[in-house]
Amino acid sequence: MKLTSIKNEDLLLQNIDPDKSIPSSFADLESIAKEKMSAGAFGYVQSGASGEETLRKNVSSFSKYAIVPRFLNDVSNLDTSVTLFGRKYPTPLFIAPVGVQKIAHEDGDIATAKAAAKCGIPFIQSTVSSYSIEEIAEATGDSPKWFQVYWTSQDAEISFSMVKRAEEAGYEAIVLTVDTVMLGWREEDVRNQYSPLKLGFGKANYETDPVFISSLPANDVDSVIQAVADNVYHPTLDWAKVAELKKRTSLPVLLKGILHPKDAKQAIANGIDGIIVSNHGGRQLDGVISSIDALPAVAEAVDGEIPILFDSGIRRGVDVVKAIALGADGVLIGRPFVYGLAAGGQKGVEKVLENFRQEMEVSLSLAGVTNLKDMRDLIIRNP
Ligand SMILES: Cc1cc2nc3c(=O)[nH]c(=O)nc-3n(C[C@H](O)[C@H](O)[C@H](O)COP(=O)(O)O)c2cc1C
Repeated sequence: MKLTSIKNEDLLLQNIDPDKSIPSSFADLESIAKEKMSAGAFGYVQSGASGEETLRKNVSSFSKYAIVPRFLNDVSNLDTSVTLFGRKYPTPLFIAPVGVQKIAHEDGDIATAKAAAKCGIPFIQSTVSSYSIEEIAEATGDSPKWFQVYWTSQDAEISFSMVKRAEEAGYEAIVLTVDTVMLGWREEDVRNQYSPLKLGFGKANYETDPVFISSLPANDVDSVIQAVADNVYHPTLDWAKVAELKKRTSLPVLLKGILHPKDAKQAIANGIDGIIVSNHGGRQLDGVISSIDALPAVAEAVDGEIPILFDSGIRRGVDVVKAIALGADGVLIGRPFVYGLAAGGQKGVEKVLENFRQEMEVSLSLAGVTNLKDMRDLIIRNP
């Protein structure tokens, strides 16, 4: 299924896909995922850090911004494409890096990556994915894929080795996540005593990595899990290490988790190729600014010098349109696709992406624009 522009008459006549197992509203999708997943797994995906203030604000802050449409423009030809690092994509949508996807569905990231490939949407693979870089690459051919890095704290050579593997497997960009120097304070997981890593999820890229394997004291499952836990967070990460990563790869490097305009400026000064405005879906530091509130000031600081991607709180197509209007060049979908995966595997993810695309197209047309950039003049902060 290639995503196609919707025929509006299908919406009018309700000839759209009647598959009730993958509903179009986020709330309905979340309820289905809750039924399908174990309490621990669902809690791990759904919850945020500490009192979940940021988790809530990520969504509610979208209503601070209002679209002021312009009418009487011919909107019969819509162009939703974006070009990033020399590659043109049909939509501004990306799959956010989400680890341990097997906790949502047994097909895990393979299903998500195949759905993304079918829809022409770039798949960003997590360091702690359920399948290895090579397995995902084999399953999806030359569809666009990026690799997200959690800097390995004990031996940076493990990170560099994974980056090299991603390059060799045809991945097209590296995303370094900077907001995860340690795990956020997640009370739901403490309540459920739930650790996906301890259950054996999320180690595929480690147990297939020669540098990681050679660093192990013993090659049994417990040693692997312990070594992943020792390496996955990175309190020592700093700008010098970012510069080191830049030197070790020829791929574009993006920093994920930027919220402060000064960090955006520093990223540009350090030769970084792109940033992702994100607060990790409210899963790291609670009380931080909602991602959508952070976006305008970051966009002003960046002033078009490098691409800005955005995530945290995107629940529907019109949210994508608002994020683009406020300065994003592309948008990462997080929890909605995970719930689609839980509800229906690959088909579930495809349906979620299709719904995003369709609602985004309807929203752009109703705002009176024919391309994404024109949205920038049509948004105000609600009085
Ligand atoms: C279950 C789960 C696992 C995640 N794993 C990762 C990860 O491995 N690496 C990463 O950079 N971000 C990870 N994230 C954060 C997402 O990339 C993204 O920033 C977040 O989901 C956006 O918020 P939203 O889902 O509320 O839209 C994870 C998010 C969730 C929900």
